[in-house]
Amino acid sequence: MTEIAGVSLDFLKEKYQTPLYIYDEDHMREQCQLFKNYFKHPLVHSEVIYASKAFLTLGMAQLIHQEGLWLDCVSQGEVYTALKSGFPHDKIVLHGNNKTKEELQMALNFKLGMIVLDNDYEAKLLMDIVDEHNIPNVMLRINPGIDAHTHEYIKTSTVDSKFGMSILDHRTLEIIKTLKEHKYIKFLGTHSHIGSQILEPNSFYDHAVTVLNFYKTLKDRTGVELSVLNLGGGFGVKYLPSDQRLDLKTVLPKLLDTVYEHAKSLGLSMPKVMIEPGRSIVAEAGYTLYTINQIKTTLNDKHYLFIDGSMNDHIRTALYQARYDAIIVGKAQLPKSVTYTVAGKACESGDIIIHNILLPNAAENDMLLVKTTGAYHYSMASHYNRLTIPSVVFVSKGKDRLIVRKESFMDLISHDEVFTK
Ligand SMILES: Cc1ncc(COP(=O)(O)O)c(C=O)c1O
Repeated sequence: MTEIAGVSLDFLKEKYQTPLYIYDEDHMREQCQLFKNYFKHPLVHSEVIYASKAFLTLGMAQLIHQEGLWLDCVSQGEVYTALKSGFPHDKIVLHGNNKTKEELQMALNFKLGMIVLDNDYEAKLLMDIVDEHNIPNVMLRINPGIDAHTHEYIKTSTVDSKFGMSILDHRTLEIIKTLKEHKYIKFLGTHSHIGSQILEPNSFYDHAVTVLNFYKTLKDRTGVELSVLNLGGGFGVKYLPSDQRLDLKTVLPKLLDTVYEHAKSLGLSMPKVMIEPGRSIVAEAGYTLYTINQIKTTLNDKHYLFIDGSMNDHIRTALYQARYDAIIVGKAQLPKSVTYTVAGKACESGDIIIHNILLPNAAENDMLLVKTTGAYHYSMASHYNRLTIPSVVFVSKGKDRLIVRKESFMDLISHDEVFTK
């Protein structure tokens, strides 16, 4: 592999330097269309909302709007980015936990399409500020207690999770009833998200069934029927050649079928169903291009490739023990003969990008292309050690487009104040 979408990696390095985040634009657009076309059912209304925490810039927000998806934002910064890009306010969902009154007020001021409250505390904050001129669409995040098979840090739905209100907690029914009866709130339904990078399809169907059972309990105990069901994101992607990619063309229609059949069997009116994919839209479209600066062999024969990036632009290995595949550009056809550890420039032993990857013999100045870095890489990048955040480029049909300019040292100090006498 020496090019992506018809653009040569040598050319990209020359033009933008390394490290460099590269996105195959058409791949992201195809993923958006896959979700739109397969998350469809003749008898169930549905909506796809892109979880912008996976990767958001002005250009990305424009792409998502062009592809007809809604946008999930969890902070004022994400909302600001979306609005500045021209994203329609009424297709933005304000999500996230630990929201302040100011953030909720911002959602009302901008007339955002929907607010997902995390808990009863947030519900009270919102009830204090709504009035006849500000009647938001509201959902409540619930915690259905599904134990999805994924990394502990990206499980979000166990009973002691920081997110949402447990379906076993009697206060959950009470707060839903209160919200539903509030004259200045249009309460639509619940949101739940069982975790990220889930590769087991049954977790998604079990999730839908569990939440619908909760809708039935709610109806029986309080008389409240909900019209929308938001089942979150979490659709797993392929990081390693050995990973079995989730078959979205099967899972998405089956998820809607499951909702349709189960809601019918419980005698519920058919809710509109929403999902919030993040990673599965962008992860496999993204690559990070590095230059190998140095090669070191330790006394006990461990071979390090030192690249010109670090955990600052690639935190997921350190944070989640995530695993990645990579190639040495121009050497993909050579025999893989050395097991390397790819490490970065940050002053941390944990600054590892890939543990133990079998690659052809590497040389200084070779380029290393790490695959599947489109989700939670740029968006989680940091300034540790005052390293600068790389450029982001989109490539499509032989053309490159700068999406985020590489930070300069001036950018780095632009918020610092100096002592004056
Ligand atoms: C509430 C919510 N929705 C959607 C997502 C997106 O998840 P993914 O990127 O795994 O699709 C997340 C991720 O953590 C989330 O917390």
